[in-house]
Amino acid sequence: MTTTPFNRLLLTGAAGGLGKVLRERLKGYAEVLRLSDIAPMAPAAGPHEEVVTCDLADKAAVHALVEGVDAILHFGGVSTEHSFEDILGPNICGVFHIYEAARQHGVKRIIFASSNHVIGFYRQDEQIDAHALRRPDSYYGLSKSYGEDMASFYFDRYGIETVSIRIGSSFPEPQNRRMLASWLSYDDLTQLIERSLYTADVGHTVVYGASANLTQWWDNRYAAHLGFAPKDSSERFRPAVEAQPAPAADDPSMVYQGGAFVAAGPFN
Ligand SMILES: NC(=O)c1ccc[n+]([C@@H]2O[C@H](COP(=O)([O-])OP(=O)(O)OC[C@H]3O[C@@H](n4cnc5c(N)ncnc54)[C@H](O)[C@@H]3O)[C@@H](O)[C@H]2O)c1
Repeated sequence: MTTTPFNRLLLTGAAGGLGKVLRERLKGYAEVLRLSDIAPMAPAAGPHEEVVTCDLADKAAVHALVEGVDAILHFGGVSTEHSFEDILGPNICGVFHIYEAARQHGVKRIIFASSNHVIGFYRQDEQIDAHALRRPDSYYGLSKSYGEDMASFYFDRYGIETVSIRIGSSFPEPQNRRMLASWLSYDDLTQLIERSLYTADVGHTVVYGASANLTQWWDNRYAAHLGFAPKDSSERFRPAVEAQPAPAADDPSMVYQGGAFVAAGPFN
């Protein structure tokens, strides 16, 4: 696959867990990487980097942030379950601000960090594909579901292409039994992002982000054109994970694909 560097790529959520990883791994994919977050980003901008503090809930600030970029990796926002009010600005208004700024500035490709929590109420003994009805497990999952709808609308209406990656659990290693199925290694995440940036004619593609783990809940047949071929597996971590005390069989973390998120809240 040709991977001619973009002129300028924007990464939101650059101070976050995945943002820090991608800051390193996206070097080489762009002449300039514009890094943005509401939180402080360290270190300061290096060669071929720009660092911009921006609140995704601030429409004018996001408009300015997106000027001059060729593609956007939208990883910023609230990344765990919170009250609807806490999620509204960063995730729901924020994703609208990103798409609207992309339209106004002529950006043609967005990689959206969606989540398995869009389908979290499926059980762990079910296997689903990207056409399965969404079953959000949280206000957070609802916000990602809304983001996917935003992506679909902006493609149909304005031709802005998106790959929505329903990320499973992307951490250095799986931390519990559920993550033996949902784990996405950083190498496989990087491959998926490369495919999402460079594959032609993606329209709005929804792809599940999991490594080649022994247990597979998600079928990527509708994203086959990306050619995503994960290389890692959680198996090597199984002994350490299974040495942890086992939760009860009816614990949400053992029953639902979304794990503990299905039981979070209420918040009043
Ligand atoms: N890590 C995973 O396994 C995983 C799984 C599913 C989805 N995701 C998604 O991937 C993205 C990155 O995940 P992460 O694990 O790095 O999360 P993270 O919480 O570490 O990073 C998210 C970043 O967004 C920033 N942010 C929050 N509100 C903001 C606002 N109003 N304006 C600007 N920035 C704001 C935070 O400061 C933070 O640095 C998130 O969108 C998350 O929902 C991650």
